[in-house]
Amino acid sequence: MTEKLIIHGGETLEGELEIAGAKNSALPLIAATLLTDKEVLLENVPGLDDVQTMLDMVRELGKEVKNTGPNTVRITGSVSSNQAPAELVRKMRASFLVLAPLVGRTGRAEVPLPGGCNIGTRPVNLHLEGLEKLGVEITQDDGGIIARADNLRSTDIFLDYPSVGATEQLLMAAVCAKGTTTIYNGAQEPEIRDLALFLTELGADLSLKGSILTVNGGNEFAGGKYEVLSDRIAAGTYMLAGIATGGRVKVESVDPASIKPLSLKLRKAGVKVEENEHSVQVESQGRPDNLEVITLPFPGFPTDLQAPITSLLTLAKGKSVVKETVFDSRFGHVAELSKMGADISVTNSNTVFIEGKKKLRGTEVEATDIRAGAALVIAGLAGEGKTEVYGMNHLDRGYSDLQSHLESLGGMVERVGENE
Ligand code: EPZ
Repeated sequence: MTEKLIIHGGETLEGELEIAGAKNSALPLIAATLLTDKEVLLENVPGLDDVQTMLDMVRELGKEVKNTGPNTVRITGSVSSNQAPAELVRKMRASFLVLAPLVGRTGRAEVPLPGGCNIGTRPVNLHLEGLEKLGVEITQDDGGIIARADNLRSTDIFLDYPSVGATEQLLMAAVCAKGTTTIYNGAQEPEIRDLALFLTELGADLSLKGSILTVNGGNEFAGGKYEVLSDRIAAGTYMLAGIATGGRVKVESVDPASIKPLSLKLRKAGVKVEENEHSVQVESQGRPDNLEVITLPFPGFPTDLQAPITSLLTLAKGKSVVKETVFDSRFGHVAELSKMGADISVTNSNTVFIEGKKKLRGTEVEATDIRAGAALVIAGLAGEGKTEVYGMNHLDRGYSDLQSHLESLGGMVERVGENE
């Protein structure tokens, strides 16, 4: 049964939050455990539905998966199947990341093509073209992608776009190819570095210099222990919620550099932002000033915070503009925000125009994806009266302990069945 979040808006959020491990790092790291039969211990793994889906995926492929403590998972054993279950790939497109480790390790993989979703078409051409350059034979039948490779061959790869998933996919293939592979124009998100550090922990020999990733592949893999980096997008979401309610929020166990694009933008909007070694504190100084935001690959402003910052800007002074350049239709939150009284519109060139207002009013709204849902929660917390956010299944994919976190900051939220 899907549930909804009932938010009684108008409470000022104040306090500190420990930020959990990053969804978008845990997912490729779990896929990468397919590269070794030895025991891997992953710590700081967030309790999220998507993480559970990826754990189910590697279990279906033969791995033994065991929770050995809060947020700690032990994964061991060898691959016994080359076929990724369609229902898991359909559930979560990141499951497509098992393709490279499977074919790199066993010489064969059958993985259904991931569908698009509510934020865009999301092709995987860069994944497949890169794998073919590495010597993988790719064919396609109605079940999806069939990949075969007797021996991967090292090479130079240029990515037409610094795709996060393609960079992760090709890193996991390149470590299986004897010789030196260089990936040019690779993604530079912190999660890429986390994967590179994890692969190094397992015995890979690789180096990252900005957008150039160099891999000396062919090493045997050992096991190891690794702590997932903290979730910069969850951190940014709570920072924005604090400011939208006129409050003060400190996010802990966070690398300030990973959230720098948001911190600098918030300073420009007149928010007080204090950075320490492992935390960032934001404090509202009244209604924020308007902003221009353009989403770009890291170190640009993260697309995953586009919807959440849009919610804040509906309450800012003056006109704001938000341009989404990473995905082709990531605006599910716009219609819902206008139902709450926001003066907001989106053009066909992926640009959102906002006239900031003093207040939003609570109403029933529908989450269409993880981050649109987060945006609606922020708007509900800041809005007057009661907001009911339907579609908690989306939020549960990306935010662990959302309700308890918000309550610990003083938010008045309750979670009930959708038809209650
Ligand atoms: C990752 O998705 C994240 N997901 C996304 O987070 C995030 O929004 C995105 O990176 C950008 O930062 C995970 O890490 C699990 P991309 P990914 O490949 O890898 C196009 C969230 O809310 N493209 O960098 O799918 C693609 O269509 C999620 O946590 C191709 O054209 O992102 C998109 O327009 C949402 N061909 C753009 O590149 C390809 O082969 C960026 O996609 C691959 C991608």
